Amino acid sequence: MTDLNTAVVAGTGAYLPEKILTNQDLEKSLDTSDAWIIERTGIRERRIAAEEESASTMAAKAGKQALEAAGVGPEDVDMIIVATSSPDVLFPSTACFVQNELQAFGSAAYDISAVCSGFLFGLSIAEQYLKTGRYKHILLIGSEVNSRIVDWTDRSTCILFGDGAGAVLLKRVEQKNASGVLSTHIYSDGSLSDLICVPGGIGRTGINKQDIDDKKYSIKMSGNATFKVAVKRMTQVIQEALQFNDLGIEDIGLLIPHQANERIIRAVAERLKYPMEKVLMNIHKYGNTSAASIPIGINEAWRSGRVQPGDTSVLGAVGAGLTWGSAVIKW
Ligand code: UT7
Repeated sequence: MTDLNTAVVAGTGAYLPEKILTNQDLEKSLDTSDAWIIERTGIRERRIAAEEESASTMAAKAGKQALEAAGVGPEDVDMIIVATSSPDVLFPSTACFVQNELQAFGSAAYDISAVCSGFLFGLSIAEQYLKTGRYKHILLIGSEVNSRIVDWTDRSTCILFGDGAGAVLLKRVEQKNASGVLSTHIYSDGSLSDLICVPGGIGRTGINKQDIDDKKYSIKMSGNATFKVAVKRMTQVIQEALQFNDLGIEDIGLLIPHQANERIIRAVAERLKYPMEKVLMNIHKYGNTSAASIPIGINEAWRSGRVQPGDTSVLGAVGAGLTWGSAVIKW
Protein backbone atom coordinates (compact mmCIF):
# COMPACT_ATOMS: atom_id res chain seq x y z
CA MET A 1 0.00 0.00 0.00
CA THR A 2 1.33 3.40 -0.97
CA ASP A 3 0.51 6.40 1.16
CA LEU A 4 0.50 8.58 -1.95
CA ASN A 5 -3.11 7.71 -2.69
CA THR A 6 -6.22 8.73 -0.84
CA ALA A 7 -9.89 7.85 -1.38
CA VAL A 8 -11.94 11.00 -1.64
CA VAL A 9 -15.73 11.38 -1.65
CA ALA A 10 -16.18 13.19 -4.97
CA GLY A 11 -19.97 13.08 -5.17
CA THR A 12 -23.02 11.87 -3.27
CA GLY A 13 -26.62 10.96 -4.02
CA ALA A 14 -29.76 9.54 -2.44
CA TYR A 15 -33.16 8.31 -3.39
CA LEU A 16 -36.13 8.11 -1.03
CA PRO A 17 -39.41 6.70 -2.31
CA GLU A 18 -42.29 9.17 -2.47
CA LYS A 19 -44.73 7.24 -0.31
CA ILE A 20 -44.64 8.25 3.37
CA LEU A 21 -45.96 5.89 6.04
CA THR A 22 -46.56 7.77 9.29
CA ASN A 23 -46.90 6.43 12.81
CA GLN A 24 -50.56 7.44 12.63
CA ASP A 25 -50.96 5.21 9.57
CA LEU A 26 -49.49 2.30 11.56
CA GLU A 27 -51.86 2.96 14.47
CA LYS A 28 -54.71 1.94 12.16
CA SER A 29 -53.46 -1.63 11.64
CA LEU A 30 -51.32 -2.33 14.73
CA ASP A 31 -51.65 -2.21 18.51
CA THR A 32 -49.22 0.71 18.74
CA SER A 33 -49.23 4.47 19.13
CA ASP A 34 -47.45 7.47 17.67
CA ALA A 35 -46.39 8.42 21.19
CA TRP A 36 -44.82 4.98 21.91
CA ILE A 37 -42.92 4.91 18.63
CA ILE A 38 -41.56 8.44 19.05
CA GLU A 39 -40.58 7.91 22.67
CA ARG A 40 -38.92 4.50 22.18
CA THR A 41 -37.32 5.10 18.75
CA GLY A 42 -37.51 8.75 17.60
CA ILE A 43 -39.21 7.66 14.37
CA ARG A 44 -42.18 9.69 13.07
CA GLU A 45 -42.44 8.38 9.53
CA ARG A 46 -40.65 6.20 7.00
CA ARG A 47 -40.63 5.83 3.20
CA ILE A 48 -42.12 2.84 1.40
CA ALA A 49 -41.05 1.76 -2.10
CA ALA A 50 -43.68 1.70 -4.84
CA GLU A 51 -44.60 -1.65 -6.36
CA GLU A 52 -42.30 -1.19 -9.35
CA GLU A 53 -39.34 -0.09 -7.19
CA SER A 54 -36.68 -2.34 -5.70
CA ALA A 55 -33.20 -2.14 -4.19
CA SER A 56 -31.66 -1.92 -7.69
CA THR A 57 -33.95 0.80 -9.06
CA MET A 58 -33.41 2.98 -5.98
CA ALA A 59 -29.67 2.26 -5.99
CA ALA A 60 -29.39 3.26 -9.65
CA LYS A 61 -31.12 6.59 -8.96
CA ALA A 62 -28.87 7.37 -5.99
CA GLY A 63 -25.81 6.19 -7.93
CA LYS A 64 -26.62 8.36 -10.95
CA GLN A 65 -26.87 11.41 -8.70
CA ALA A 66 -23.50 10.63 -7.12
CA LEU A 67 -21.86 10.25 -10.54
CA GLU A 68 -23.35 13.53 -11.74
CA ALA A 69 -22.24 15.34 -8.58
CA ALA A 70 -18.71 14.02 -9.07
CA GLY A 71 -18.65 14.77 -12.79
CA VAL A 72 -17.71 11.16 -13.49
CA GLY A 73 -19.22 9.31 -16.45
CA PRO A 74 -20.50 5.72 -16.09
CA GLU A 75 -17.77 4.54 -18.47
CA ASP A 76 -15.14 5.68 -15.96
CA VAL A 77 -16.47 3.62 -13.03
CA ASP A 78 -14.13 0.74 -12.15
CA MET A 79 -16.27 -0.95 -9.50
CA ILE A 80 -19.84 -0.82 -8.23
CA ILE A 81 -20.46 -2.13 -4.72
CA VAL A 82 -24.04 -2.35 -3.50
CA ALA A 83 -24.56 -2.97 0.20
CA THR A 84 -27.98 -4.52 0.65
CA SER A 85 -29.79 -7.15 2.68
CA SER A 86 -32.94 -6.88 0.58
CA PRO A 87 -31.53 -7.71 -2.88
CA ASP A 88 -33.77 -7.87 -5.95
CA VAL A 89 -33.21 -11.63 -6.31
CA LEU A 90 -30.95 -14.27 -4.77
CA PHE A 91 -28.61 -13.87 -7.72
CA PRO A 92 -27.31 -12.20 -9.82
CA SER A 93 -26.24 -9.43 -7.53
CA THR A 94 -28.28 -6.24 -7.27
CA ALA A 95 -25.11 -4.38 -8.31
CA CYS A 96 -25.24 -6.09 -11.73
CA PHE A 97 -28.75 -4.69 -12.30
CA VAL A 98 -27.46 -1.27 -11.23
CA GLN A 99 -24.51 -1.54 -13.61
CA ASN A 100 -26.89 -2.30 -16.46
CA GLU A 101 -29.17 0.60 -15.57
CA LEU A 102 -26.24 3.02 -15.39
CA GLN A 103 -24.55 1.53 -18.48
CA ALA A 104 -21.33 1.33 -16.48
CA PHE A 105 -20.07 -1.73 -18.34
CA GLY A 106 -16.38 -1.24 -17.58
CA SER A 107 -16.94 -1.99 -13.89
CA ALA A 108 -16.88 -5.06 -11.67
CA ALA A 109 -20.23 -5.07 -9.84
CA TYR A 110 -21.17 -7.07 -6.74
CA ASP A 111 -23.09 -6.94 -3.46
CA ILE A 112 -21.99 -6.79 0.15
CA SER A 113 -24.12 -8.47 2.79
CA ALA A 114 -23.34 -6.95 6.17
CA VAL A 115 -26.84 -5.56 6.80
CA CYS A 116 -26.81 -2.23 8.67
CA SER A 117 -22.98 -2.14 8.65
CA GLY A 118 -22.91 -2.91 4.90
CA PHE A 119 -22.00 0.59 3.78
CA LEU A 120 -18.98 0.69 6.10
CA PHE A 121 -17.87 -2.79 5.01
CA GLY A 122 -18.13 -1.59 1.39
CA LEU A 123 -16.23 1.58 2.24
CA SER A 124 -13.45 -0.51 3.72
CA ILE A 125 -13.14 -2.51 0.48
CA ALA A 126 -13.28 0.61 -1.70
CA GLU A 127 -10.64 2.27 0.47
CA GLN A 128 -8.18 -0.57 -0.15
CA TYR A 129 -8.69 -0.64 -3.94
CA LEU A 130 -8.23 3.12 -4.21
CA LYS A 131 -5.32 3.49 -1.82
CA THR A 132 -3.37 0.66 -3.42
CA GLY A 133 -3.78 2.46 -6.75
CA ARG A 134 -5.63 -0.48 -8.34
CA TYR A 135 -8.74 1.56 -9.22
CA LYS A 136 -9.63 5.19 -9.78
CA HIS A 137 -13.43 5.43 -9.32
CA ILE A 138 -15.66 3.27 -7.13
CA LEU A 139 -19.40 3.76 -6.82
CA LEU A 140 -20.53 2.60 -3.38
CA ILE A 141 -24.26 2.37 -2.75
CA GLY A 142 -26.44 1.26 0.17
CA SER A 143 -29.98 0.36 -0.88
CA GLU A 144 -32.80 -1.37 0.97
CA VAL A 145 -36.40 -2.25 0.39
CA ASN A 146 -36.98 -3.28 4.00
CA SER A 147 -40.75 -2.97 3.60
CA ARG A 148 -40.65 -6.27 1.66
CA ILE A 149 -38.85 -8.21 4.41
CA VAL A 150 -40.66 -7.03 7.52
CA ASP A 151 -43.62 -8.79 9.07
CA TRP A 152 -46.27 -6.07 9.01
CA THR A 153 -48.11 -7.80 11.88
CA ASP A 154 -45.07 -7.68 14.22
CA ARG A 155 -45.24 -4.31 15.98
CA SER A 156 -41.83 -4.75 17.61
CA THR A 157 -40.02 -4.68 14.25
CA CYS A 158 -42.20 -3.29 11.43
CA ILE A 159 -42.41 0.18 12.99
CA LEU A 160 -38.63 0.52 12.80
CA PHE A 161 -37.74 0.05 9.16
CA GLY A 162 -37.96 2.10 5.97
CA ASP A 163 -36.83 2.01 2.34
CA GLY A 164 -34.28 4.13 0.50
CA ALA A 165 -30.84 4.35 -1.07
CA GLY A 166 -27.71 6.46 -0.69
CA ALA A 167 -24.54 6.55 -2.76
CA VAL A 168 -21.04 7.98 -2.85
CA LEU A 169 -18.58 8.15 -5.72
CA LEU A 170 -15.12 7.55 -4.28
CA LYS A 171 -12.16 8.77 -6.27
CA ARG A 172 -8.47 7.99 -5.97
CA VAL A 173 -6.47 11.17 -5.49
CA GLU A 174 -2.71 10.95 -5.71
CA GLN A 175 -1.72 13.31 -2.96
CA LYS A 176 -0.19 12.72 0.45
CA ASN A 177 -2.21 13.80 3.48
CA ALA A 178 -5.10 14.87 1.29
CA SER A 179 -8.68 14.75 2.39
CA GLY A 180 -10.57 11.51 2.09
CA VAL A 181 -11.18 8.27 3.94
CA LEU A 182 -8.61 8.34 6.74
CA SER A 183 -9.53 4.94 8.16
CA THR A 184 -12.07 2.12 8.31
CA HIS A 185 -12.48 -0.48 11.06
CA ILE A 186 -14.88 -3.39 10.60
CA TYR A 187 -15.79 -6.38 12.80
CA SER A 188 -18.18 -9.33 13.02
CA ASP A 189 -19.33 -11.72 15.74
CA GLY A 190 -21.20 -14.69 14.30
CA SER A 191 -22.02 -16.02 17.76
CA LEU A 192 -24.66 -13.25 17.92
CA SER A 193 -26.29 -14.17 14.59
CA ASP A 194 -29.65 -14.87 16.28
CA LEU A 195 -30.08 -11.32 17.57
CA ILE A 196 -31.37 -9.94 14.26
CA CYS A 197 -32.02 -12.25 11.34
CA VAL A 198 -34.29 -13.39 8.55
CA PRO A 199 -34.27 -17.06 9.59
CA GLY A 200 -35.96 -18.62 6.56
CA GLY A 201 -33.56 -20.97 4.83
CA ILE A 202 -32.58 -20.77 1.19
CA GLY A 203 -29.49 -22.96 0.77
CA ARG A 204 -29.99 -24.45 4.23
CA THR A 205 -33.52 -25.86 3.90
CA GLY A 206 -34.76 -24.63 0.54
CA ILE A 207 -37.65 -22.22 0.45
CA ASN A 208 -40.64 -24.06 1.86
CA LYS A 209 -44.28 -23.26 2.45
CA GLN A 210 -44.13 -23.93 6.19
CA ASP A 211 -41.39 -21.35 6.65
CA ILE A 212 -43.34 -18.87 4.54
CA ASP A 213 -46.49 -19.47 6.63
CA ASP A 214 -44.41 -19.09 9.80
CA LYS A 215 -43.16 -15.72 8.47
CA LYS A 216 -39.56 -16.87 8.59
CA TYR A 217 -38.73 -14.79 5.54
CA SER A 218 -39.09 -11.59 7.51
CA ILE A 219 -36.93 -9.77 10.06
CA LYS A 220 -36.81 -11.18 13.61
CA MET A 221 -35.07 -9.20 16.31
CA SER A 222 -34.33 -9.44 20.02
CA GLY A 223 -34.74 -5.70 20.46
CA ASN A 224 -33.46 -5.26 24.00
CA ALA A 225 -30.33 -7.40 23.64
CA THR A 226 -29.52 -5.79 20.29
CA PHE A 227 -29.94 -2.33 21.78
CA LYS A 228 -27.35 -2.99 24.51
CA VAL A 229 -24.74 -4.52 22.23
CA ALA A 230 -25.31 -1.78 19.62
CA VAL A 231 -24.51 0.97 22.11
CA LYS A 232 -21.42 -0.84 23.37
CA ARG A 233 -19.97 -1.79 19.99
CA MET A 234 -20.66 1.51 18.24
CA THR A 235 -19.04 3.46 21.06
CA GLN A 236 -15.99 1.15 21.10
CA VAL A 237 -15.41 1.17 17.35
CA ILE A 238 -15.73 4.97 17.12
CA GLN A 239 -13.23 5.33 19.96
CA GLU A 240 -10.90 2.98 18.11
CA ALA A 241 -11.19 5.11 14.94
CA LEU A 242 -10.35 8.28 16.88
CA GLN A 243 -7.38 6.67 18.56
CA PHE A 244 -6.10 5.25 15.26
CA ASN A 245 -6.08 8.75 13.72
CA ASP A 246 -4.73 10.42 16.84
CA LEU A 247 -7.89 12.51 17.08
CA GLY A 248 -9.89 13.69 20.07
CA ILE A 249 -13.68 13.75 20.00
CA GLU A 250 -13.43 17.56 19.88
CA ASP A 251 -11.76 17.25 16.44
CA ILE A 252 -14.92 15.73 14.97
CA GLY A 253 -17.24 18.21 13.28
CA LEU A 254 -20.03 15.75 12.57
CA LEU A 255 -20.92 12.25 13.76
CA ILE A 256 -22.88 10.34 11.12
CA PRO A 257 -24.25 7.24 12.87
CA HIS A 258 -26.40 4.45 11.47
CA GLN A 259 -29.98 5.42 12.26
CA ALA A 260 -31.45 2.43 14.13
CA ASN A 261 -32.94 4.10 17.19
CA GLU A 262 -32.60 7.67 18.46
CA ARG A 263 -31.99 6.33 21.97
CA ILE A 264 -29.03 4.25 20.74
CA ILE A 265 -27.52 7.32 19.08
CA ARG A 266 -28.04 9.48 22.19
CA ALA A 267 -26.48 6.79 24.39
CA VAL A 268 -23.42 6.56 22.11
CA ALA A 269 -23.02 10.36 22.02
CA GLU A 270 -23.28 10.49 25.80
CA ARG A 271 -20.58 7.84 26.23
CA LEU A 272 -18.33 9.70 23.78
CA LYS A 273 -19.09 12.98 25.58
CA TYR A 274 -20.15 14.39 22.21
CA PRO A 275 -22.84 17.08 21.79
CA MET A 276 -26.05 15.95 20.06
CA GLU A 277 -26.10 19.21 18.01
CA LYS A 278 -23.16 17.77 16.07
CA VAL A 279 -24.83 14.42 15.37
CA LEU A 280 -26.59 13.87 12.05
CA MET A 281 -30.14 12.73 12.80
CA ASN A 282 -32.75 11.87 10.22
CA ILE A 283 -34.36 8.81 11.79
CA HIS A 284 -37.56 10.78 12.41
CA LYS A 285 -38.05 11.03 8.62
CA TYR A 286 -36.79 7.68 7.36
CA GLY A 287 -36.66 5.12 10.18
CA ASN A 288 -33.98 2.45 9.90
CA THR A 289 -32.94 2.06 6.25
CA SER A 290 -30.19 -0.49 7.11
CA ALA A 291 -27.25 -0.22 4.69
CA ALA A 292 -28.72 2.94 3.14
CA SER A 293 -28.82 4.97 6.32
CA ILE A 294 -25.21 6.20 6.45
CA PRO A 295 -24.96 7.21 2.76
CA ILE A 296 -28.36 8.93 3.00
CA GLY A 297 -26.90 10.84 5.97
CA ILE A 298 -23.69 11.64 4.08
CA ASN A 299 -25.70 12.95 1.14
CA GLU A 300 -27.76 15.14 3.45
CA ALA A 301 -24.66 16.55 5.15
CA TRP A 302 -22.83 17.09 1.86
CA ARG A 303 -25.69 18.80 0.02
CA SER A 304 -26.76 20.99 2.94
CA GLY A 305 -23.20 22.25 3.49
CA ARG A 306 -23.08 20.68 6.95
CA VAL A 307 -19.66 19.30 6.02
CA GLN A 308 -17.09 21.71 4.59
CA PRO A 309 -13.64 21.10 3.10
CA GLY A 310 -11.20 20.43 5.94
CA ASP A 311 -13.90 19.16 8.36
CA THR A 312 -13.55 15.70 9.86
CA SER A 313 -16.50 13.32 10.35
CA VAL A 314 -16.76 9.94 12.02
CA LEU A 315 -19.23 7.28 10.88
CA GLY A 316 -20.40 4.31 12.95
CA ALA A 317 -22.80 1.39 12.54
CA VAL A 318 -23.94 -1.87 14.12
CA GLY A 319 -26.04 -4.44 12.29
CA ALA A 320 -27.11 -8.04 12.01
CA GLY A 321 -24.36 -10.62 11.92
CA LEU A 322 -23.47 -9.16 14.36
CA THR A 323 -21.41 -6.68 12.36
CA TRP A 324 -20.07 -3.28 13.30
CA GLY A 325 -17.70 -0.67 11.98
CA SER A 326 -16.50 2.91 11.84
CA ALA A 327 -14.77 5.25 9.42
CA VAL A 328 -13.15 8.66 9.60
CA ILE A 329 -13.51 10.99 6.59
CA LYS A 330 -11.78 14.31 6.09
CA TRP A 331 -13.84 16.35 3.60
O1 UT7 B 1 -30.24 -1.69 12.72
C1 UT7 B 1 -29.81 -2.83 13.41
C2 UT7 B 1 -29.77 -2.59 14.83
N1 UT7 B 1 -31.10 -2.53 15.38
C3 UT7 B 1 -31.24 -2.07 16.58
O2 UT7 B 1 -30.25 -1.67 17.13
C4 UT7 B 1 -32.59 -2.06 17.25
C5 UT7 B 1 -32.37 -2.15 18.72
N2 UT7 B 1 -33.56 -2.22 19.54
C6 UT7 B 1 -34.48 -1.23 19.66
O3 UT7 B 1 -34.42 -0.24 18.99
C7 UT7 B 1 -35.52 -1.36 20.74
O4 UT7 B 1 -35.23 -2.49 21.53
C8 UT7 B 1 -36.98 -1.47 20.22
C9 UT7 B 1 -37.42 -0.12 19.67
C10 UT7 B 1 -37.08 -2.53 19.15
C11 UT7 B 1 -37.93 -1.84 21.35
O5 UT7 B 1 -37.84 -0.87 22.37
P1 UT7 B 1 -37.66 -1.33 23.89
O6 UT7 B 1 -37.68 -0.12 24.69
O7 UT7 B 1 -36.45 -2.20 23.94
O8 UT7 B 1 -39.00 -2.12 24.15
P2 UT7 B 1 -39.19 -3.64 24.61
O9 UT7 B 1 -38.84 -4.56 23.49
O10 UT7 B 1 -38.51 -3.84 25.92
O11 UT7 B 1 -40.73 -3.67 24.84
C12 UT7 B 1 -41.34 -2.89 25.88
C13 UT7 B 1 -42.84 -3.06 25.75
C14 UT7 B 1 -43.31 -4.51 25.59
O12 UT7 B 1 -44.51 -4.67 26.30
P3 UT7 B 1 -44.53 -5.36 27.74
O13 UT7 B 1 -43.95 -6.73 27.53
O14 UT7 B 1 -43.67 -4.49 28.61
O15 UT7 B 1 -45.98 -5.36 28.09
C15 UT7 B 1 -43.58 -4.62 24.12
O16 UT7 B 1 -44.56 -5.60 23.83
O17 UT7 B 1 -43.30 -2.37 24.59
C16 UT7 B 1 -44.09 -3.25 23.81
N3 UT7 B 1 -43.96 -2.87 22.41
C17 UT7 B 1 -44.75 -1.97 21.82
N4 UT7 B 1 -45.77 -1.22 22.29
C18 UT7 B 1 -46.35 -0.37 21.43
C19 UT7 B 1 -43.07 -3.35 21.50
N5 UT7 B 1 -43.27 -2.74 20.32
C20 UT7 B 1 -44.31 -1.89 20.49
C21 UT7 B 1 -44.98 -1.00 19.65
N6 UT7 B 1 -45.98 -0.25 20.15
N7 UT7 B 1 -44.62 -0.83 18.34
